[in-house]
Amino acid sequence: KEAKLWGGRFEESVTDAVERFTESISYDKALYKQDILGSKAHASMLAKQGLITIPDWDSIHQGLSEIERRIENGEFEWRTDREDVHMNIEAALTDLIGEPAKKLHTARSRNDQVLTDFRLWCRDAIDAIGAKIKHLQVSLVKLAMENEGVIVPGYTHLQRAQPVLLQHLLLAFVEQLERDAGRLLDCRVRLNFCPLGACALAGTGLPIDRFMTSAALDFTAPMKNSIDAVSDRDFVMEFLSANAITAIHLSRLGEEWVLWASEEFGFLTPSDKVSTGSSIMPQKKNPDPMELVRGKSARVVGDLVTLLTLCKGLPLAYNRDLQEDKEPVFDSVKTILGMLEVSAEFAQNVTFNRERIQKSLPAGHLDATTLADYLVKKSIPFRTSHDIVGRAVAVCVSKSCQLQDLSLDELRSIHPVFDKDVYEFLGVENSVKKFSSYGSTGSACVASQLGDWVTKLEIT
Ligand code: ARG
Repeated sequence: KEAKLWGGRFEESVTDAVERFTESISYDKALYKQDILGSKAHASMLAKQGLITIPDWDSIHQGLSEIERRIENGEFEWRTDREDVHMNIEAALTDLIGEPAKKLHTARSRNDQVLTDFRLWCRDAIDAIGAKIKHLQVSLVKLAMENEGVIVPGYTHLQRAQPVLLQHLLLAFVEQLERDAGRLLDCRVRLNFCPLGACALAGTGLPIDRFMTSAALDFTAPMKNSIDAVSDRDFVMEFLSANAITAIHLSRLGEEWVLWASEEFGFLTPSDKVSTGSSIMPQKKNPDPMELVRGKSARVVGDLVTLLTLCKGLPLAYNRDLQEDKEPVFDSVKTILGMLEVSAEFAQNVTFNRERIQKSLPAGHLDATTLADYLVKKSIPFRTSHDIVGRAVAVCVSKSCQLQDLSLDELRSIHPVFDKDVYEFLGVENSVKKFSSYGSTGSACVASQLGDWVTKLEIT
């Protein structure tokens, strides 16, 4: 058996079970690029500070580049007995270049090394998720552009409430996604500080330059407190929280569209490209992708809960428990990227069934609130208007008709203030036209917001 990099004081080697249980190479090899980048920055700083020679620096750099090449060509052997990505790369470097490699870990611990790698990895992941969020927003805005003027029932309590423009509804999701992207950007700003040089927990007496490595790795600044630097996982919790909120938004979008694709609603039809069938029922065409978007949100929430639970009650500073922080992050990122991608594809492959939607509009007295506003305009106090319209609705329910079917005499028998201009307020088309407040479903308002999104998302 090869001696461990930390093996000096040990007389016996670990059991196979312990080796298998404590390894992280099976998953943290995903950090190899960041690990090499961090090591190169560290070596350059050691050279500049006179802690290693220029020839040492040169062979470390070349050796690391060669290792990166081998990893990318599948020629690198990842070894479980070398525990994690850091020791695999360092040991391989020693195999490759010999003595100079032994100087690389000067003024560094795996505790600050792993966090440097992980912060760099999360930074890239945030950028990738941000791009996918934008792509979904673009798909939703384009879908809105294709559906100008379509009125749909708006719901509260899943009961018919008021008529809204389909565009308005689609843009609601675009707004939510914008905040999701914003949360990720906020998280990126806070995580972009460099732990490298914190060493095990206390820093070092060697003359390192933490500002140099921080700048070389595009961090804003070195982290100020070395104990905090190796203990902190709040950047992970924050990242996973942002992902969890995004996942919940996508889950709600998924639920909306699964519902709308049902026979009972029938408001949208996904194309075959985004549907799957049943192994027993020949007629079935199911919106599985959006069901799985809804379903996979559970994992993303679970990943956050794993991290929170992991960190709860840990004493300062580094504890090996913290090795368990990687898999939830990898899972969360992979899952959210897939959810965003498939949601965008779904948006590009749905058709809204305008006739079916249109036919459904008369049900549910969607114009009742507009009628109450009409009475307010006639100087009736709103509470009284509410009551009057409520009584008009009761008449409609007993006669199985709509508000616009009531004659002026019938309306006047409820309250004398009704006039023939009331019919300009009744029916969903008239009702939608009356909305004018900022952020409302009024067509001018929605058109202007759609225009803003087209500009902001650079849609051509
Ligand atoms: N693989 C470890 C992790 O991910 C690296 C740090 C290990 N440090 C230690 N002292 N055992 O947390």
